[in-house]
Amino acid sequence: MVTGAGSGIGRAIAMKLAAEYALINVDINGENLAAVEREIATQGFHAQSIVGDVADRATHIKARELAAVNGTLVAWVNCAGWTRGAALHDFPNDPKLFEELIATNQNGTFWGCAEALHSFVSQKIRGAIVNISSVHGRRAWRDHALYEMTKAAVDALTRNVAVTYGPYGIRCNAVAPGAVMTPALAKSFADAPDPAARQHSLEALTPLKRIADAAEIAEVVAFLLSDKASYVSGQSLAVEGAWTSALGAIDLDPELARSYGLNSETGLAE
Ligand SMILES: NC(=O)c1ccc[n+]([C@@H]2O[C@H](COP(=O)([O-])OP(=O)(O)OC[C@H]3O[C@@H](n4cnc5c(N)ncnc54)[C@H](O)[C@@H]3O)[C@@H](O)[C@H]2O)c1
Repeated sequence: MVTGAGSGIGRAIAMKLAAEYALINVDINGENLAAVEREIATQGFHAQSIVGDVADRATHIKARELAAVNGTLVAWVNCAGWTRGAALHDFPNDPKLFEELIATNQNGTFWGCAEALHSFVSQKIRGAIVNISSVHGRRAWRDHALYEMTKAAVDALTRNVAVTYGPYGIRCNAVAPGAVMTPALAKSFADAPDPAARQHSLEALTPLKRIADAAEIAEVVAFLLSDKASYVSGQSLAVEGAWTSALGAIDLDPELARSYGLNSETGLAE
């Protein structure tokens, strides 16, 4: 089960997992979901789609019930989420923005975990859950208070599930990506006054000096769901090119940077 499978990171996770699991993909965008289902089919794998809002518990119940018809539910990924920047001191008087953001990111992950656990426990399955958090769950960025609150909640929920259901062999982890090139990030660049400068500033802030490909996040999710991660639970694993390890701006050795053909201020290729 993968939510938010119609685009970006969720889509990459679905494409990666399709080789190993019979998938159920969930997204509010039916058109994108159908395109992902077709792409998986062209690769010779099988996915079913449920169009629905993750904020609505019924969406998760439907997915759980569909999984029970097809086989045994063993893995669940809560990826659907979004953000919109807004200053806290002048937050728009828009209950829709406030409530919908929390409803998708926080409530959607909560109901996803609840229904996955309902299925695992009722069938005594040692299943695994991965929730998609963010570096924003642990670090602050201007105008992202609400998003950061929801992602910190995702990390807290992940710990609770891991501790409460660990005794029954159920594992739960989060993946906290940094900047990942997805339609959502591309739009945030396009909306910036200087899109190229905005992209370069994020690249420069990241020690690995680039933005991740969604497939690099999917690899870690697949690992955490697999038996290879059999002793990993309760973690929120940052997959962010060492971004959150940096103590302020990255200070490059000018000579070493030059010898690699990098700009000694930004660390980007010259
Ligand atoms: N892209 C990044 O840099 C980045 C970094 C850290 C964390 N994340 C997280 O990764 C996840 C995916 O982000 P993305 O960049 O791939 O975004 P995206 O917009 O490309 O994909 C998000 C998908 O979720 C779906 N969705 C949104 N609200 C939904 C709802 N209420 N119900 C069902 N589906 C819904 C959208 O239709 C879309 O298909 C989000 O949780 C986001 O917070 C992204």
